[in-house]
Amino acid sequence: MHLLEILINSVSAGAKNIFLKIFEKTKEDTIEMSVKDDGKGMDQADAERFVDPFHTTRTTRSIGLGLSFLKGLTDQCHGTFSIKSQKGIGTEIQCSVQRSFIDTPPIGDMGQTIMSVIQANENIHLRFEYALNEKRFVFDTEDIKKQLEGVSLLEPNILLWIHDYINSGITSLSKEE
Ligand SMILES: Nc1ncnc2c1ncn2[C@@H]1O[C@H](COP(=O)(O)OP(=O)(O)OP(=O)(O)O)[C@@H](O)[C@H]1O
Ligand SMILES: [Mg+2]
Repeated sequence: MHLLEILINSVSAGAKNIFLKIFEKTKEDTIEMSVKDDGKGMDQADAERFVDPFHTTRTTRSIGLGLSFLKGLTDQCHGTFSIKSQKGIGTEIQCSVQRSFIDTPPIGDMGQTIMSVIQANENIHLRFEYALNEKRFVFDTEDIKKQLEGVSLLEPNILLWIHDYINSGITSLSKEE
């Protein structure tokens, strides 16, 4: 849910490319996550202010959910958080949590998360890399689009396939552990 907020921020910023990485490392006891986009970006000072829960550009609601919530989560879960942004270039968020910490939430239904981002804008190039230690699973909308030869990613069957493909890709890595 937190990640979806961050990904939707990238969609709203007009990103053409979004790269999401989730790396689970058992020895280090960490889950590292990063979201990189080439959207409109913002001044670094603004980016840092937005991480503070009392700032948002929204006028309909006083508190932005995405950045400050994720920062709060990483603080609670013995993690780290950093944001780098440049106007006109893009934004990169890198964070981590302690993997074995009791309050660290599970990574959740990533198939659903990726599906929601595609539904928000099917034209974005979205690349999702998941790794558990040395093993890696990659989902890339460009690869899928090539195979589909013009069929829309928004076709219900395709979306369902993507959902299952991602979730089974992730679970198959942990089964082999
Ligand atoms: N990837 C991004 N690219 C450019 N600007 C961003 C990005 N992510 C966040 N921002 C800026 O930071 C602000 C705060 O983001 P945040 O997600 O915390 O709250 P919000 O999007 O304003 O509100 P909410 O997420 O609750 O709908 C955004 O309004 C936007 O101006
Ligand atoms: Mg947001």
